[in-house]
Amino acid sequence: MKKKESKKTNYFSCTFPAKSVNEGFARGIASAFCSQLDPTLEELCDVKTAISEAVTNCIVHAYKDEDDLKKKKITLKGEYGGSCLKITVKDCGCGIEDIEKAMQPMYSGGGEERSGMGFSIMECFTDKLAVKSKKGVGTTVILKKYIGKVSEE
Ligand SMILES: Nc1ncnc2c1ncn2[C@@H]1O[C@H](COP(=O)(O)OP(=O)(O)OP(=O)(O)O)[C@@H](O)[C@H]1O
Ligand SMILES: [Mg+2]
Repeated sequence: MKKKESKKTNYFSCTFPAKSVNEGFARGIASAFCSQLDPTLEELCDVKTAISEAVTNCIVHAYKDEDDLKKKKITLKGEYGGSCLKITVKDCGCGIEDIEKAMQPMYSGGGEERSGMGFSIMECFTDKLAVKSKKGVGTTVILKKYIGKVSEE
């Protein structure tokens, strides 16, 4: 059995401000989109959890010194082809200087109230996680998850 990436058959894109009220909004959109692939409850929960961590990071870390709502943008994109769901969460915030360090379990640059487990959770609840970031430019997190039965080649 091979997990197969097929040609893209559906997609969405939306942009909203990095405000904590929009964390649930992003989770809802991603969940509605993922539902089109007929996921199990567990798969749906996994996707919602991973998206929630990625979006929360944009809200909490990316725009710490930014007050202008118009600049505090999060772009959420989704696409699928076959059983492969791909979700992209992008911000134009402060960026991450050392991605490897940031992705280590229990590392947090966000103070004592954070546990430093967001990236580990994203990794655990998806099949593939990619993080691209540039200091002062922003961060893009790409999550892939195979939903439902896997295709045979
Ligand atoms: N979008 C982002 N913009 C800027 N920095 C980020 C972003 N996402 C993550 N980081 C940096 O990477 C660190 C690790 O992120 P991670 O989500 O693993 O942990 P956390 O957010 O600190 O804690 P938790 O998610 O457990 O509340 C963050 O503390 C922050 O320094
Ligand atoms: Mg986090």
